[in-house]
Amino acid sequence: MLKFEVVRGPTLDGSVDLLAVATTGKPSAKDPILGPLGKTLGVDLGVLADEELFEGKAEQQLALSGRDRVPAKRILLLGLDTAAPGYLRVRMFAAAAVRHALGLNLRRVGLAFPDLAGLDTATWIEAAMVGARTGAYRFTRYLTGDRKPKAEVETVVLCTPPAGRLLPPPRLEELLARAAAVAGAIDLARDLVNEPPNVMTPRELARRAEDVAERGGLECEVWDRKRIVAEGMNLLAAVNAGSREEPRFIQLRYRPEKPSKRRVVLIGKGLTFDAGGLCLKPPKGMQDMKCDMSGGALVIGLMAAVAARKPKAEVIALVPSTENMPGGAAARPGDVVAAYGGKTVEIINTDAEGRLILADTLGYARKLEPTVILDHATLTGACMVALGPYAAGLFSNSDPETERLLRAASATGEQFWRLPLAEDLKDMLHSDVADVKNVGEQFGGAITAALFLRHFVDRTPWLHLDIAGPAYLEKATSYAPRGGTGFGIPTLLRFIEP
Ligand code: BES
Ligand code: MN
Ligand code: ZN
Repeated sequence: MLKFEVVRGPTLDGSVDLLAVATTGKPSAKDPILGPLGKTLGVDLGVLADEELFEGKAEQQLALSGRDRVPAKRILLLGLDTAAPGYLRVRMFAAAAVRHALGLNLRRVGLAFPDLAGLDTATWIEAAMVGARTGAYRFTRYLTGDRKPKAEVETVVLCTPPAGRLLPPPRLEELLARAAAVAGAIDLARDLVNEPPNVMTPRELARRAEDVAERGGLECEVWDRKRIVAEGMNLLAAVNAGSREEPRFIQLRYRPEKPSKRRVVLIGKGLTFDAGGLCLKPPKGMQDMKCDMSGGALVIGLMAAVAARKPKAEVIALVPSTENMPGGAAARPGDVVAAYGGKTVEIINTDAEGRLILADTLGYARKLEPTVILDHATLTGACMVALGPYAAGLFSNSDPETERLLRAASATGEQFWRLPLAEDLKDMLHSDVADVKNVGEQFGGAITAALFLRHFVDRTPWLHLDIAGPAYLEKATSYAPRGGTGFGIPTLLRFIEP
């Protein structure tokens, strides 16, 4: 487990293997960190930066040797881009520094910050800790021989800005605990997503949720296929029909010590592999479809953090889990199936399966009398077309709950963009044989998916978060590996906690 130390930085005298220095713009001799550092090294960092075309832009890196003049073996200048970086930039800086150290098998990393105007100490310390922990994340379970990693980063030394103040130890401990809960939840969610789909079946996802419940003292109930059918979750059963793996319906519950008026129900799409069903996906589209349980991973990870943080509100997590396979018993385009609660659905496209299992779950969620329902789902490629790979779409029937979420998101830097529940697209879901059909027309796919879900929500305030883009990275970046990202956890913990 990664250890943290906090000192008034930069630790030129403390020994670290790698000293990473955040720079907001081109290094100058006047900089309170880089000036003295350059002097000790006997290098004009401004001139060197010019030569190496390093301007301190976001994600730019300039690596130097410590030349035996400073205790650190290696020095890394990392661009933060702006003079007023937020939580996300600081988090990315810390993650990139730790990933750089991992690549060089270095064990002790120092992180030095300039004075960050506008960012309070508590925020950047949490962001740096979350960044460092998640930067150290690797999914190495199935690597053997020399593919196994040789060294882990063991210690991160946070060096506060030279003029900054140190926090009193109890406050620092509290921040460390909060950051550890966020980072632990992100690691857990990433693990669940990164496990291959032959391992991370619905049964295995349920087992991992049971582990989380046991460790955190949460209530947990898991339904098997028989119970799912008996309860009337016919859409979940229909999506599962083409698969040899049994479905699971997973429920986790956190009850606060003092009964609360606020009851938050979190739903996560738990499609452990989306082949498309009979409407089979082409190979390229199917390749990363183990990521289709990212919503489920998000809420299970979040429940681990909830168990650790013990918020005032009651929190319930619901994860419908199945594969979507094209077996002989699979649902056919044209099938009509009654959802939980009785509304009938014509299944036009078996690849629009996420909304089907969410429909049953939303119907069930209503019966729990929540004050707010959130669903998290890798629901539509259309949402990625609209917003790109790093932002989530947000749909809601409630302005106050939307504001609450966007406020939390502006603190963590995660991107959520509100999209409209456009009434003029409603008719696209009209079916001649059933109450509603499961797909609309070509355009507006993220919106018609949300409108479909709305059929199964009553007046309960509801947020639908389409995380198809940000849940999964197809290519590694300087700050995160390929695979599950744990997107949403920092924001949603803030949404639940205050
Ligand atoms: N799981 C997919 C959506 C998805 C696509 C997630 C890419 C992550 C990356 C979902 O079940 C799906 O197949 N959606 C279809 C809906 C269509 C058939 C209306 C899509 O987006 O193409
Ligand atoms: Mn699909
Ligand atoms: Zn899917």
